[in-house]
Amino acid sequence: MKLLVTGGAGFIGSAFVRLALRENWASRLVNLDKLTYAGNLENLTTIEADPRYRFAQGDICDTKLAVSLIEEEKPDAIVHFAAESHVDRSILGPAAFVETNVRGTFSLLEAARATKLPRFLHVSTDEVYGSIDEPHDADEEYPLKTASPYSASKAGSDLLALSYFTTFKMAVTVTRASNNYGPYQFPEKLIPLMISNALEGKPLPIYGDGLQVRDWLFVDDHCRAIWAALTKGAPGQIYNVGGSRALPNRTVVEKILDAVGQPHTLMTTVADRPGHDRRYAITTEKLEKATGWHALMPFEQGLALTIQWYKDNAPWIARVRSGEYQHYYDKNYQGR
Ligand code: NAD
Ligand code: DAU
Repeated sequence: MKLLVTGGAGFIGSAFVRLALRENWASRLVNLDKLTYAGNLENLTTIEADPRYRFAQGDICDTKLAVSLIEEEKPDAIVHFAAESHVDRSILGPAAFVETNVRGTFSLLEAARATKLPRFLHVSTDEVYGSIDEPHDADEEYPLKTASPYSASKAGSDLLALSYFTTFKMAVTVTRASNNYGPYQFPEKLIPLMISNALEGKPLPIYGDGLQVRDWLFVDDHCRAIWAALTKGAPGQIYNVGGSRALPNRTVVEKILDAVGQPHTLMTTVADRPGHDRRYAITTEKLEKATGWHALMPFEQGLALTIQWYKDNAPWIARVRSGEYQHYYDKNYQGR
């Protein structure tokens, strides 16, 4: 397949680009990315010389740019990752989330409609279902109940994407994944932030009681699910993607501290995140039945591999944490 990937310089997008070329899913792959603070071409050095690969710097809100790329490259599908992705940043400044996640997705859908692009996969999140009380797990029919500007903007983009299937008969599929982890994740999210602080013996900020539950999914398992949904899933459908490994945050952080050989006393309770969702939990039978996909990576193995990657890539972390990151870190954590 010839693919147009958006947000391919970010954490999950870059994992997808590397896999798509390695596994020969793509005969041609164009990566459209604005290179925000989260976009990093260092994530793509292993494939940048591949003749099948092209990088195009640009904003998904620029419909004309997307139309001209599609007309030039004639992709068979768009795989749409580009987004503002961090909940805490959406609390500090929601505007960019509405702009990129809602207007940017709308702009891409319009580009796909104008060029009659055959297939559109919209990458979304289980956060659109909001906090789910035990013992329930959300299937794809579960009502949307968003808490943060991030999840609200993703729900808005999901509904827009699905409306293009219903109204314009465009072959749109939506995937909703749980919390991803793995190499190259920006150290603002729980696992890479805790690993990088633990490696330096810095305090690990735990929001509230730390008993919030997240379902952890190794990033390559997510990418394989997206490929399965694109090639074997049905247009107009939503597919949940989870790791079936629900853990309280404290347990995850304790595992990291044990692996790094640091004391649990590094965990520091800080003020809770406003609107903090308590528990995410989804079912993944629909995708499994439709495509045969299963999450393959056991959490302990994936976590060990991820910690090793951060140990081996200290210069990557140092570069990513310089400049804008420090400003964000102070704004989010100081006086909390
Ligand atoms: P990320 O923040 O690491 O990367 C986002 C990428 O999008 C960056 O490369 C950035 O430069 C690019 N981008 C941002 N705004 C853009 C714009 N206007 N135009 C073009 N490019 C732009 O994000 P991620 O964690 O890799 O998440 C990717 C997608 O997966 C997002 O849609 C997110 O909502 C979804 N998702 C993430 C998770 C998770 O745990 N991280 C889980 C489920 C779903
Ligand atoms: O569920 C999928 C979603 O997972 C994705 O859509 C989002 O893009 C992704 O950021 C993630 O959202 P979360 O808010 O669940 O992830 P985050 O890593 O920010 O936080 C995970 C949990 O850890 C959450 O309960 C908040 C808590 N936390 C997080 C940070 C950064 C802390 O206790 N301390 C922290 O410093």
